[in-house]
Amino acid sequence: MTDTLSITDSRTGGQYDIPISDGTINTMDLRQIKVLDDDFGMMGYDPAFKNTASCQSRITFIDGDKGILRYRGYPIEQLAEKSSYLEVAYLLIHGELPTRAQSEEWVHGITHHTMLHENTKKFMDGFHHDAHPMGMLVSTVAALSTFYPDSKAIQDEDARRLQMYRLIGKMPSIAAYAYRRRMGFPYVYPDNELSYSGSFLNMLFKMTELKYKPNPVLEKALDVLFILHADHEQNCSTSVMRGIGSSQADPFVATAGAAAALYGPLHGGANEQVLRMLNEIGSKDKVPDFIQRVKAGDVLLMGFGHRVYKNYDPRAKIIKEIAEQVFEVTGRNELLDIALELERIALEDDYFVDRKLYPNVDFYSGIIYQAMGFPTDAFTMLFAIPRASGWIAQWQEMILDPEQKIARPRQVYLGHDKRDFVPEDRRGEDG
Ligand code: ACO
Repeated sequence: MTDTLSITDSRTGGQYDIPISDGTINTMDLRQIKVLDDDFGMMGYDPAFKNTASCQSRITFIDGDKGILRYRGYPIEQLAEKSSYLEVAYLLIHGELPTRAQSEEWVHGITHHTMLHENTKKFMDGFHHDAHPMGMLVSTVAALSTFYPDSKAIQDEDARRLQMYRLIGKMPSIAAYAYRRRMGFPYVYPDNELSYSGSFLNMLFKMTELKYKPNPVLEKALDVLFILHADHEQNCSTSVMRGIGSSQADPFVATAGAAAALYGPLHGGANEQVLRMLNEIGSKDKVPDFIQRVKAGDVLLMGFGHRVYKNYDPRAKIIKEIAEQVFEVTGRNELLDIALELERIALEDDYFVDRKLYPNVDFYSGIIYQAMGFPTDAFTMLFAIPRASGWIAQWQEMILDPEQKIARPRQVYLGHDKRDFVPEDRRGEDG
């Protein structure tokens, strides 16, 4: 016997048994609930999708109350300790950790698609010298669609794999070009003898030396940060990726849309805002005043709070540990003391306790990025690079899911009923 949800409609006295599957009802089953036969039928109303699942997924699991995050069943803590970003990208997309042979083929494929078309330089040069790197990244990822028209073959498995190599391979190159453009430095090509994060550091920071040698601690720290940011189930940007992809647009323009969503300060743009906030606070003794402003509703405590986590974000815990390792190389970032004090006071304060507001992934990441030499406006790109693997994994899952169709929410229309057109000379007469 299937479980059901019994509903009584007080308007009509009608009784309905709605099947329950995996703890959910299919809201299409509500459409049978009508007052009159020609009614449209009942819909769910859920602005911002606070309680609506838009897909079935097997990629990432989050238990927000317990602070649990797993990719394909593997706890994030184990992956951060034992895996590498490219292996995690493989896991997210394929569902299993790669064998040695699979891993070699995967890494080779990505490494050999890191170069950008030379026209990208001209494209980049068109941006104003102080253009925000995320604006440049969003546009340049979209431009990949123009260089690779074969990306439209979304039903072709081989074509999809090629776009995955290209996207994951080129994200660091695009981000590095955007950074170098911003700094006025010449562009640097990828170095295929280095690791994924090592080659990225090379493209960012290589100056006159013949061979760039990344600091192994920073190279490893960046790789772990990439693992932590790789996927986070149906967040704002991933929903955009799936939404654009559902119209069968190619994965590059879909990724550009997802990256645009990530750019916002309430999402991946928060890491940049945290740094600006810490700089504005300036010193530990100003923290209590700042907390008062947050509680008065004047400002948000950036890097705090999450739609899903109502407990400590497990990624933030790991990032705090990485910070110590990075600071041993770079020297301590003094902003850390302000951040620690903010966290200490917030976690004891009823305002934050009652609302279950804890540090999220963005709270400590910016402090590390700054210590590693990244300018503040480059931080969100560091989120976008690894999230590309999560986006593309989610996109492929959507493409292959026979239940998915073009994404198209309903609305509750509260506007005017039909009315006749008013000529210009009579407008405003009724106030
Ligand atoms: N500072 C102060 N108050 C907050 C904060 C915050 N950072 N976050 C939530 N609140 C308060 C809200 O004002 C609200 O209070 P109320 O009940 O008195 O009105 C309550 O907590 C619930 O918050 P909502 O806004 O309803 O929570 P929602 O799930 O819609 O928002 C979000 C989640 C956007 C992340 C929010 O917590 C926020 O704006 N945080 C700051 C920005 C940030 O760090 N974003 C990164 C998120 S992680 C990521 O995307 C990678």
